Amino acid sequence: MPRIAVIGGTGVYDPGILDNVTEKTVDTRFGLARVAVGSYRGQEVAFLARHGAGHSLPPHLINYRANIEALRALGVQRVVATAAVGSLNPLMRPGDFVLVDQFLDFTKQRSATFYEGGEEGVVHCDMTHPYCPHLREVLYRIGTDIGLKLHREGIYVCTEGPRFETAAEIRMFRMLGGDVVGMTSVPECVLAREAGMCYATVAMVTNMAAGIGADRLTHSEVLEVMAANVSKLSRLLMESLEF
Ligand code: HPA
Repeated sequence: MPRIAVIGGTGVYDPGILDNVTEKTVDTRFGLARVAVGSYRGQEVAFLARHGAGHSLPPHLINYRANIEALRALGVQRVVATAAVGSLNPLMRPGDFVLVDQFLDFTKQRSATFYEGGEEGVVHCDMTHPYCPHLREVLYRIGTDIGLKLHREGIYVCTEGPRFETAAEIRMFRMLGGDVVGMTSVPECVLAREAGMCYATVAMVTNMAAGIGADRLTHSEVLEVMAANVSKLSRLLMESLEF
């Protein structure tokens, strides 16, 4: 049973670091989820590509509940997720990594809980510290040891997407204290907490956010910066699997 999972975001699509990989389709009460299970230095690890094969799912159509439910069914207790983000903070530059510790939720139309009354009941999950402080600390130690430019904390603004933000939205998010902006950490992080998992996100800055950096944002720019830094990210993920 894999205790640990990696959820790969934009630019992190294959479980290349794992041996003897088996592709599983897990049938959950929320639908199907595809998870690869393999081994890394003798322990079983699950890998889930958040955007599906070939980045075919936009952020607002990802079946977050099926994904987390599938990991729970496989026995996963700890999740390290990756995320490409834009930066609102002048100190967080493209190529930097951020161990986000808080989020601001600006999503609009996502199923964001396992608890919808009925058999599951009504549950209000504590979200004071949404990302696991212990796992973030482990990632911080490894990341600094291997020489990454890594920020110990940061506030992740989650937008609905799939469009990028307006310059005015980015100014507003900055006034609210946001550091980075992306489209997927909510509800993934929330569901992982509801499922009792220890969950952390390694965000990689791929661009300065709308109105701060280049005149226009493109997805290919995001992919290019991600591709240029993905080997560093893989190294961090690999080393973190051993803890
Ligand atoms: N905005 C939202 N999501 C993103 C961005 C951005 O600027 N960059 C990478 N993912």
